Amino acid sequence: MSSSNPLAPSWLAVPNDANVLPSAVWSQNTTRDVSGEVVIAGVGASTIAQRFGTPVYVVDEADARTRALTIRSAFDREFARVGSSAKVYYAGKAFLCTEVARWVTEAGLNIDVASGGEMAVALAAGVDAGRLGLHGNNKSLAEIDRAVAAGVGAIVIDSVIEIERVAEAAARHGRIQPVRLRINSGVHASTHEYLATAREDQKFGIPLADAPGVVALIRERESLRFLGLHSHIGSQIFESDGFAEAAHRLFGLHARLLEGGEVPELNLGGGFGIAYTSVDDPLDITEIARRFADIVSEGATEFGIPVPVVAIEPGRSVIGPSTTTLYEVGTIKDVEVSLPDSAATAVRRYVSVDGGMSDNIRPSLYGANYSARIVNRASEASPALVRVAGKHCESGDIVVHAEYLPGDVTPGDLLGVPATGAYGWAMASNYNYLGRPPVVAVRDGVARVIVRGETEDDLLSRDAGVRP
Ligand SMILES: Cc1ncc(COP(=O)(O)O)c(C=O)c1O
Repeated sequence: MSSSNPLAPSWLAVPNDANVLPSAVWSQNTTRDVSGEVVIAGVGASTIAQRFGTPVYVVDEADARTRALTIRSAFDREFARVGSSAKVYYAGKAFLCTEVARWVTEAGLNIDVASGGEMAVALAAGVDAGRLGLHGNNKSLAEIDRAVAAGVGAIVIDSVIEIERVAEAAARHGRIQPVRLRINSGVHASTHEYLATAREDQKFGIPLADAPGVVALIRERESLRFLGLHSHIGSQIFESDGFAEAAHRLFGLHARLLEGGEVPELNLGGGFGIAYTSVDDPLDITEIARRFADIVSEGATEFGIPVPVVAIEPGRSVIGPSTTTLYEVGTIKDVEVSLPDSAATAVRRYVSVDGGMSDNIRPSLYGANYSARIVNRASEASPALVRVAGKHCESGDIVVHAEYLPGDVTPGDLLGVPATGAYGWAMASNYNYLGRPPVVAVRDGVARVIVRGETEDDLLSRDAGVRP
């Protein structure tokens, strides 16, 4: 086994075999065939690259559908156990296109949309508006109007100003609009930790203490129906304590609000973490469902009230693990780096690929860690520490901060970066005038484009100064 590079982060171990695809990180139907090539749902990585080019997002359709079904059935089962039911909304912000909207609704999920644009995609997919929830701290009047006119199942009110706006739109359309109220519970969770403060400094929601007054204002409006409270405490969460704390805080308020009228539902948001690297150890969704059901039923017993219908909004945990981005290696460079507090140096190998921060901003934006493998072949070469860099004109343009790849990685190799389904394409940009890559769904040996990639002509077509 080769020794570790001192530039490697402490969590990254030298793998015994840098060809292995850890099953927690790669989509369910991804394997290596006898030749050593990676095959996703029956289609070889090289075939995908040849047909669709690189970079390309490759979605393992059965993986995404199975995860949606698993989450829904876990919550159905656990909430039936405590005498209630659950509504699962897919958080479309993670990745939405009409195909994905159909996959998740066919699995029995509703869809949470965060803008008029996301709502338009869901409606274009033929999703019943009653199965949509609309979020946002600054929905435009036009977005509110369209949502109400379409008949969305719930609008999440995020500020006092919005009560008037939604109520007026509903009255204008002769509707009674179901609404939730987003609460800033003071609990903010992030990976491996959670923080609970009395008042959190953030733009979303209404402080817990102000909520009774705000709910009273909602209840005064004849064109609104108050469905219940909503809380979302963060994303990529690995510990259930933050959810438990937020649920506990919200539950006390929920019980109080029942004294003034109906409160049929309680929305506890999304944020369940997934594995991006082999050291990530996310909570099992069945365990989350069991914990949520226990917290809510224990709260109901404590306050002597009925167990509410609980809504949740997972995005990343439904779509994130399903997708692998394929890139082609272009250049390779060994850079000698001084070690901190020492005269010694070590070599970091920069492996540059044909995409980067325009197809996945998360490593640059949040310092998010990903993993990678050579996918066109297996290799016997000893692992070497690499940093996978993008091709953008930005030194922070990193795709994978640190990974051990076979030391013979070479230009022309294909690299696969797993778990890119959530907030990859959704946050993609045209930085440096790169077209956004296509999204290709693979299933049972068949690959098909579900979102076309952008061409330079697409990009130029929006430039009003281009002369014929
Ligand atoms: C209100 C709300 N609900 C749900 C989600 C989905 O979170 P995740 O994709 O981490 O499950 C988010 C993500 O930021 C959110 O802001």
